[in-house]
Amino acid sequence: MNIKTFKNRIISVLLIISLMVPVMACGGGKEAGKVVKIGVCVYDQYDTFLTQLLNCFNDLIESDVTVEYVYASQSQTTQNEQVESLIEKGVDVLCVNLVDRTSPTTIIDLARKNDVPIIFFNRELVEEDLMQWSKLYYIGADAFQSGIMQGDMAAVLCRRYKDKIDKNGDGIIQFVVLEGEAGHQDSIVRTEYSINTMIEKGEEVEKVGYAIANWNRAQAQTQMTLLMEKNSNIELVLANNDDMALGAIDAYEKAGYFQSRWPAIFGIDGTDVGLQAVSEGKLWGTVYNDKEGQAKAMYDLAVALAKNQSLDDIGLVDNKYIRTPYTEVTEGNVGNYLKDNK
Ligand code: GAL
Repeated sequence: MNIKTFKNRIISVLLIISLMVPVMACGGGKEAGKVVKIGVCVYDQYDTFLTQLLNCFNDLIESDVTVEYVYASQSQTTQNEQVESLIEKGVDVLCVNLVDRTSPTTIIDLARKNDVPIIFFNRELVEEDLMQWSKLYYIGADAFQSGIMQGDMAAVLCRRYKDKIDKNGDGIIQFVVLEGEAGHQDSIVRTEYSINTMIEKGEEVEKVGYAIANWNRAQAQTQMTLLMEKNSNIELVLANNDDMALGAIDAYEKAGYFQSRWPAIFGIDGTDVGLQAVSEGKLWGTVYNDKEGQAKAMYDLAVALAKNQSLDDIGLVDNKYIRTPYTEVTEGNVGNYLKDNK
């Protein structure tokens, strides 16, 4: 090869490299310009908190990302089929809100076989299942913290407004619990920690009933009506979420009680309707479940996984978990949470 040909070759190689650099720089890992596909599977389409969480998620979608949402109508078999079909369609990553948090194996096996990472969210699977494969993650919140906060608010307000809440004046707070789904980590843990916190804080309490209302407002209204028929003196309602707390309010409204005769009612979630009820003084308190934080963490992690980017800045604990903190909301600070003020 003469000097001239050698020089020309060098120039061509440099030219090719200089053209490639910007392409590689914006590619971030996978092929440049590739549209990332995320599949989001949800246990049910009629859940207020999850609908709001997914609205937050949807607001984050950028132009190089597409998202397909599927809803399982509370059937794990349906969800397994939906996962299979999303994988066949070529999703890069799955976000799964399990129907049955104790039955993730079919989904994990499918994803693993096809090398599609899964971010589970909101309905927490047991640790052993999450450890089945390195590309499994969980995003949610610590259920026990929400229980403690609900119990804490209830204890503080029962003490401060004893005359108003302890309607029969026996010094003991007669209460009922409206529970979410049987077997859901948030139902079990919130119920236990909320009551225990009240007791630890020195409140004398007596459980006069409970009912399972599956996170649902209409079911809670029905169940609360039955509890009211059985107990003439209910002074406090601890509901595992806001929709069920609002169902309890509906029951008292429908039965024609003046608000001064209602028990003190507490929820969890800080949904738009829940916050509104706190600001109107109908709900004594709620615990804010950070849907914005969970949606952002899920989006960032999904995109990073799909683009094969580093996970260093995502904030994973033990390479597996992201849990957002809860906060207490009462009439005093609800203004900070209402949409217009955000
Ligand atoms: C809980 C939430 C409930 C319901 C449930 C569904 O965290 O507080 O309102 O959305 O998740 O799994």
